[in-house]
Amino acid sequence: MYSQIFSTEEDPRTQELRSRLDSFYAETSDYTAFHESNWQPVYWQPIAERAVNLLQSKGDCRILEFGAGRTGFGKYLQEYLQKADIAADLSDRLTFDTQDVTPQNQDYLATQASQVYIGDLLEVTQKYDLIFSTFVWEHLTTPKAILDHLISLLNPQGSIFLISPRYDLPFYLSPSCRHLSKGDRLKLSLWLSLKRLLTLLGQKPSFLIHLDPVLFHQKWFRDADAIHWVSLWDLLSYLPSNMQITKHKIEAGGLKGKIWADYCVMFVQIQQK
Ligand SMILES: C[S@@+](CC[C@H](N)C(=O)[O-])C[C@H]1O[C@@H](n2cnc3c(N)ncnc32)[C@H](O)[C@@H]1O
Repeated sequence: MYSQIFSTEEDPRTQELRSRLDSFYAETSDYTAFHESNWQPVYWQPIAERAVNLLQSKGDCRILEFGAGRTGFGKYLQEYLQKADIAADLSDRLTFDTQDVTPQNQDYLATQASQVYIGDLLEVTQKYDLIFSTFVWEHLTTPKAILDHLISLLNPQGSIFLISPRYDLPFYLSPSCRHLSKGDRLKLSLWLSLKRLLTLLGQKPSFLIHLDPVLFHQKWFRDADAIHWVSLWDLLSYLPSNMQITKHKIEAGGLKGKIWADYCVMFVQIQQK
């Protein structure tokens, strides 16, 4: 049953899914992330801190945000540099570029970034010191190819920061399957838990792609388009041996908040050992 609705990026059906998603991102007016610029200091602070370190140690720093939507990172970074008392001639040596698949926010992004790439991330060839995304990793149909590519774009001492939901906690499923019956979702939860366990025990990572998300059945709601069922275990198992992952902590109150921060969100930094 699951081979009909899940696949991996090697399957040609994911290309058709990509085209359908790209059309959705190009045309949607419901997508809340496109309504106003975002503000996510919790995730941006470690990235800005690393940018300052690099500026001070190597004299420049080039940053790429992919899946930028209507990012407020450029403004945050300027404020951060001012607070850190970074001299103007040094902060001028920091470059912030953005990428997204949709042209919907292109004019906005042009006011925020030095360079705006619209199109496939695999077409970006510039080298970067820092590459990051917030809540994009779960929308990729070719996560392995993109990760390989991003690693190849890193300058020495470079880092990739990925922030996204993750679906490793048993019975926590991507909203993309909300159109399935309760019984089917229960069976899916058990199947997924087994898959995660097998990866933890050393079997191949799954990098599951949901071919038939609820997005194509109902009006869009948050993460109806989360077609890559992200797993931190997949990432840890896939990374080349010369790369390492650092988990960043997200502060959250209460037991529910702590479970969410520790097991339902992925906030990682990937860099060379
Ligand atoms: C939930 S929004 C997040 C936007 C922004 N990063 C934020 O945090 O507000 C998902 C973003 O991923 C972008 N996206 C989807 N598929 C992508 C892909 N294959 N490559 C790059 N961006 C993609 C969408 O166009 C959208 O801007």
